[in-house]
Amino acid sequence: MSTVRPVVIAIDGPAGAGKSTVAKALAQRLGFFLLDTGAIYRAVALSAARAGVAFSDGARLGGVAREMALRFDEAGRVWLGDEDVSTAIRTPDMSQGASTVSAHPAVRDALLELQRRLAEKGRCVVEGRDIGTVVLPWAPVKIFLTASDEVRARRRYDELKAKGADVSFEETLRDLRERDHRDSTRAVAPLKQADDAVPMDTSDMNQAEVIDRLEVIARSAISLDG
Ligand code: DC
Repeated sequence: MSTVRPVVIAIDGPAGAGKSTVAKALAQRLGFFLLDTGAIYRAVALSAARAGVAFSDGARLGGVAREMALRFDEAGRVWLGDEDVSTAIRTPDMSQGASTVSAHPAVRDALLELQRRLAEKGRCVVEGRDIGTVVLPWAPVKIFLTASDEVRARRRYDELKAKGADVSFEETLRDLRERDHRDSTRAVAPLKQADDAVPMDTSDMNQAEVIDRLEVIARSAISLDG
């Protein structure tokens, strides 16, 4: 008896590697839906901050992660109950907060099944840090996107500036390195390339090139007719 696995494209990599933008574009080209798992950790950080739960309190954070009323709508917006928190979860504080809360095993445990359930219908692009290694290790397509620290910080800085944020490049670079360090050294499900992932360094590529390349990889790895 063979088990039919859902068609999933896992895209992992460090902060600022361009995952969100290219994952979204790839999902659109393939007619897949996008699952942004970073948004889930961000929603835990936001819920905890609002409830006065310390980012160091793993046990209570696990409860926050289990109980939050999170959903994604058709447009990929993120909701907590009846509030659209898509913008509120994207601040630099919530980036650091998400990285901090995500290091607690109780939080990761609480979110593992949720992520698997959200991806179970397949035909989705799932982006995160541990998708190819832990959440969906059987994904038929795994990509590990990277770029140099400076390039990633520059992209993140430009994004924040475009939103009107008052940040400096140095601060952005420092935050990003701190987050990379935390994400890749945590004990549970650290950021790391799966053995069978295709590595892609996007430092010298523009977005269109990355998306084209991902589409070729995805289409050649899976049959997209069904
Ligand atoms: O992709 P992002 O920047 O929105 O993710 C925010 C944080 O959430 C990231 O610094 C680490 C954590 N995260 C994680 O631990 N595992 C994932 N699959 C996705 C995100």
